[in-house]
Amino acid sequence: MRKLSIIGIGAGNPDYITVQAIKALADVDVVFLVDKGGEKDDLSALRKDICARYIKKPYRIAEAKDTERDRTPGDYEAAVASWHAGRAAIYERMIREELGENEHGAFLVWGDPSLYDSTLRIVEQVAAMKTAAFDLEVIPGITSVQALAARHRIVLNRVGEPVHITTGRQLAKGMTNDNVVVMLDGDCAFKTVKDGDVEIYWGAYLGTQEEILIAGKLRDRAAEIEARRAQARARHGWIMDTYLLRRPVS
Ligand SMILES: C[S@@+](CC[C@H](N)C(=O)[O-])C[C@H]1O[C@@H](n2cnc3c(N)ncnc32)[C@H](O)[C@@H]1O
Repeated sequence: MRKLSIIGIGAGNPDYITVQAIKALADVDVVFLVDKGGEKDDLSALRKDICARYIKKPYRIAEAKDTERDRTPGDYEAAVASWHAGRAAIYERMIREELGENEHGAFLVWGDPSLYDSTLRIVEQVAAMKTAAFDLEVIPGITSVQALAARHRIVLNRVGEPVHITTGRQLAKGMTNDNVVVMLDGDCAFKTVKDGDVEIYWGAYLGTQEEILIAGKLRDRAAEIEARRAQARARHGWIMDTYLLRRPVS
């Protein structure tokens, strides 16, 4: 039986990897990588570094190009479903053709596989095709949300309060919670929050040498974050940022 591991590798710092992930990697024969295009070469290099550091036997890297994704679709859910189907076809082919019987393959997932990542959903689609049987294991990793909290030395919630994790797109419809973590925000959606007393704890390239941290009242920091974000994005060609918004106690 083939074995497939979906391994969370942490969100930026190679030291965020867990002992469980290191043990799983030591046994891997094939690593599956999907090339998402030039702008994230740095991330692909980090994945390859992790393989070189932790895989303890001869291994192969099976690489495939991602399918094109419509970033401004009229119907967001239909566009995502179609992109997932394209990826499932790529994964199915890679697993069937590149992973021998009794071999161990791995997908390395940025941060943790449970948070805004489709690998697990897509691998489940592949399993449902029943063209390549495999045992599946999932190994957790440190998320960018945990990295954000640690680097700002904060707790995400005040005592007894909930925390809401969402996307920039959803935040733009309103801040529905007192503690909101925002991910996947290409448009500085914090600018849509009108209460300037809200605190923001913002982090970009968390855990990496390029890390930027900015915190304070939204009214004092919003313009600075927007400018730093644009500069950094222009310099690196890509950016990943995450932030916590917290409403003051009323
Ligand atoms: C597709 S999601 C993947 C999240 C990932 N699975 C995790 O556990 O953090 C990508 C988003 O995660 C956040 N992110 C990931 N790595 C980050 C980092 N090193 N610094 C800041 N934000 C990061 C950003 O909001 C980015 O848009």
